[in-house]
Amino acid sequence: MIILDGKKTSNDIKAEIAESVRGIVANGSRPPHLAAVIVGNDGASLTYVSSKVRACKRVGFDSTLINLPESTSEDELLEKVNELNNDEQIDGYIVQLPLPKHIDSQKILIAVDADKDVDGFHPTNFGKMALSLPTFISATPFGIMELLKRYDVETSGKHTVVIGRSDIVGRPISILMSQKYNPGNSTVTLAHSRTKNIEELTKHADIIISALGVPNFVKAEMVKDGAVIVDVGITRVADNSAKGYKIVGDVDYENVSKKSSYITPVPGGVGPMTIAMLLKNTLLAYKG
Ligand code: GUN
Repeated sequence: MIILDGKKTSNDIKAEIAESVRGIVANGSRPPHLAAVIVGNDGASLTYVSSKVRACKRVGFDSTLINLPESTSEDELLEKVNELNNDEQIDGYIVQLPLPKHIDSQKILIAVDADKDVDGFHPTNFGKMALSLPTFISATPFGIMELLKRYDVETSGKHTVVIGRSDIVGRPISILMSQKYNPGNSTVTLAHSRTKNIEELTKHADIIISALGVPNFVKAEMVKDGAVIVDVGITRVADNSAKGYKIVGDVDYENVSKKSSYITPVPGGVGPMTIAMLLKNTLLAYKG
């Protein structure tokens, strides 16, 4: 069994990005600049956004964190989006999801300039991704593809079962895994909450990508020997640690890892990759 080490791989990618930034700055140009907008004070979202901003500093990017109050109206947020679209010093930005219920996320995401949409959430960029045209690929699916690529995991002709059909992970990764490139060329089944007898699908899968957010959902008896396991779950579960919680994936790692050929741990698998790929997209946005 080989661990798909997202922590190490993301550090390699960040080192490559930092090298590019050193070259840019040595040539007298300003470094790339990422902005992140967060509305409200959700603990998990604040943690994610702060790690994105910290990662910018590590690779030499400029970064701006915009924390708006929970009471921010849709119009006020649209105004902020418009401001960022027109700010020439900002190469790319993200609006952290989920947004408060009184704000229509789709309305906000469609207002983001597609050329600055380093999350790849704008319909134009999602459409380009689906058509295999060059674009910003959302950080989580992009991170999974990069991990499979760097570990030379064979995906061509394999049966991939994706669990979860979210706009951010399940649906885009199902499209990418079936694309006519490597990694890709996979036969994909997209399973979700209405899927019947899911274990009948997973038991025959060569590759399982679980993006459900249910701890220990994928158990050893659902997995065939030698399967590749990608765990995208990041559920906070209360414990007695100083932080008061630990991050738990969708996969029963202890038992599933014994049967798998490759597996991503949680934490230290897909999670760190998403941040590295967001930085990669920001560098692409900078280069135009
Ligand atoms: N919420 C959970 N994941 C993400 C992400 O990749 N980008 C943004 N903007 N919000 C998220």
